[in-house]
This record gives sequence, C-alpha cells and structure tokens, in this order.
Amino acid sequence: MKIYKAKDYKDMSRKAANIISAQVIMKPNCVLGLATGSTPIGTYDQLVEWYNKGDLDFSEVTTVNLDEYKGLPRTNDQSYYYFMHQHLFDRVNIDPERTNVPNGMEPDAEKECGRYEELIRSLGGVDLQLLGLGHNGHIGFNEPGEAFEKETHCVDLTESTIEANKRFFASADDVPKQAYTMGIKTIMQAKKILIVVNGENKADIVERAFFGPVTPEVPASILQLHNDVTLVGDEAALAKIGI
Ligand code: GLP
Repeated sequence: MKIYKAKDYKDMSRKAANIISAQVIMKPNCVLGLATGSTPIGTYDQLVEWYNKGDLDFSEVTTVNLDEYKGLPRTNDQSYYYFMHQHLFDRVNIDPERTNVPNGMEPDAEKECGRYEELIRSLGGVDLQLLGLGHNGHIGFNEPGEAFEKETHCVDLTESTIEANKRFFASADDVPKQAYTMGIKTIMQAKKILIVVNGENKADIVERAFFGPVTPEVPASILQLHNDVTLVGDEAALAKIGI
C-alpha cells in the first residue's frame, strides 16, 4: 500500500484528485468507481476546478458508484444519486448516460444487485475505485461482520452507521435502514483503489484497518491484500500510524 500524508483536508483533496485526473488523462474512456460521504467532496471540487481550467475532459469516462440507500428516491437530497449530481456530474462534461448509481427505488434487491454486478462486468471492471472509510471500518456500506466474498447486495445498516449519518437527516428515524452496496468482492476486483481519510476521528480506524489483522470485523482491512492501493490522508487521520 502506498501512503501519502497530506497537510490538511485541502491538500488531501488535491493529492487524491491528482491520482484521479492522472487516470482520466492516461485512459480517457476509463471506468471510475466513485464514493459519497463528506471526505471526497473536496476531491470532487478540485476535479471540477481543473475541468473548468480546461485540464480535464470527462466526456468518455464511465462511472459506477459504490452504494445507494434503499427506498430513497433520486430527488431526495440525501440520496447518493443526488449527491453525485450535486458534487460532480452536473459540474463537468460527463455523459449522464455513462453515470451509474444503484437504483434505491428498485424494491427487488436480488434483481437490482444482479443488474448492477452485471453492469460492472460488462464495462470490463473498474479501473480506479475511490473509497472513503466509515468510523467502524466500513467501505461502501459493507458493515463489520459481513462475508468478504460478497458481490453487490442489500445490507442492513448498523446502529453506528445510522448514528453517524443521521446528521444529514431530520432525525435518526429518517435514515434509511437498508442500502444496496458493491460487495467486498466487487471492490477488490477494481484494478486500482484510492482511499481518502481525514480528521482525527478517523485516526483509530485507520490504524486498525491498515495495520491490524485482516478481519471481516474491520471490512477495510481486506484492502491490505489488494496489490494496488493508495491511501491519502491528512496528518490528523494518519496520526496513529507513525508516518
Ligand atoms: C457513508 C458511505 C461510505 C463513506 C462513509 C464515511 O456511510 N456509505 O461510502 O465512506 O459514510 O463517510 P465520511 O466520509 O462522511 O466520513
């Protein structure tokens, strides 16, 4: 695993955006796996800035997002569909037809997860997968204790994730209880993985995930076994790993 230490959130975002833009420049028709959460917002802002300067062209890029809440319509401002349009898709020249987010409004989980997995396969897999890190070590919405071998599937969100995400909703009761997410197996099949972390409240989980044992109790720990992972973190998030 390559680890890059950034001075602060802005520097982390700039470093991460550099890796993504290198991918787009080297392979204009690449498949980007994208993530939501607060961590990657600055990365998307930086990509938009470079796009506005004329340095980046997304016209041939295809995207597949990691996850989506089950039961939230796309028009809900907390859906990940909405998030992606707000922070990236509506701000660059990406073809909306080439952007993909699991359809949270499909009630048949098996059907939607099968469709999504097949879609990723038909695209030839993900060239570069961007990830954030949940406080409990989740990636996408793969919660602790789930089997590593899973493909895209429906998950019951843990109390701690509902707690962490309730700040975006009117109350914890409004946070959806389920989500569709790429599985660990799907994520591990990406050719390259870029994980972004910031803030002191991620320092403990960064240490456990990347310097502790590989265990389904800490889903991100599996990334230790991937052969092309880059971790970009600010000083606060990397504080416990002596880098
Ligand atoms: C959510 C998302 C994850 C994300 C995580 C961390 O639950 N499903 O993909 O990585 O939260 O979010 P944040 O970056 O806001 O800490």
